[in-house]
Amino acid sequence: MNILIIGSGNMGRGIATRLLEGHSVITLYDIDPSASTKLAGELRSARPTARVSVANSVADAVPASDIVILASWYGSNLDVARSLGRALDGKVVVDISNPLNETFDGLVTPPGTSAAETIREVLPSTTRLVKAFNTTFAGTLVDGHVAGQPLNVFLAGDDDDAKQTLGEVIQEAGMRPVDTGALQRSRELEALGLLGITLQSRLGTGFMSGWHLVLPTPAGVA
Ligand SMILES: NC(=O)c1ccc[n+]([C@@H]2O[C@H](COP(=O)([O-])OP(=O)(O)OC[C@H]3O[C@@H](n4cnc5c(N)ncnc54)[C@H](OP(=O)(O)O)[C@@H]3O)[C@@H](O)[C@H]2O)c1
Repeated sequence: MNILIIGSGNMGRGIATRLLEGHSVITLYDIDPSASTKLAGELRSARPTARVSVANSVADAVPASDIVILASWYGSNLDVARSLGRALDGKVVVDISNPLNETFDGLVTPPGTSAAETIREVLPSTTRLVKAFNTTFAGTLVDGHVAGQPLNVFLAGDDDDAKQTLGEVIQEAGMRPVDTGALQRSRELEALGLLGITLQSRLGTGFMSGWHLVLPTPAGVA
């Protein structure tokens, strides 16, 4: 899978690090070209076989990408989605944002909607938007686990094939995809993302905790 990550900050680093564990070919783009060039160099140093390159222009990189991950802050993601417009026809696009307020203790989106649903509104109807990664902290993505447990990546979206495609990429990278349902479930995922953030100072966990869904043992299995 060819994956374009727009934003080479903490989450760009974490997601790229993880996905390079699978079969993904990663293209990095950042508004500051030196950020993506530096990150690509570090990823190659850590893993010389890493298939990672840097795009000079986001518009040039989109056509060759199967999946486009919006990895900047909510307002920027919205602008990027709006400006790419029809270039994203048919693409699987991933929104990872938590639409935090300035004090990081609330969301700027009004009740009854979500960042993902707002981004959906500015995308072409053929774009297949998936919410993912907003509940996994960047540092845990770099590590690949929390206390020896694989990372759970919660997904929401209205296109089952898109969730399946992204879920397979996540699984081959050693994480566990959890499909929570329609894009509307992004409201709960963004609330969960916020709760995870506000818990950090209370628990003193330094943004290295993770949400893990514990499933019952299937009947008949010891
Ligand atoms: N950090 C986490 O643990 C975490 C966890 C879950 C979800 N998230 C979500 O992930 C997103 C990114 O967070 P982050 O911590 O990675 O932020 P970050 O470290 O600030 O990285 C964002 C990067 O995107 C760049 N950027 C801004 N506008 C851009 C544009 N139009 N095109 C390309 N690149 C652009 C930024 O450049 P400049 O710095 O020059 O603006 C920066 O390098 C946020 O929406 C956040 O809510 C974060």
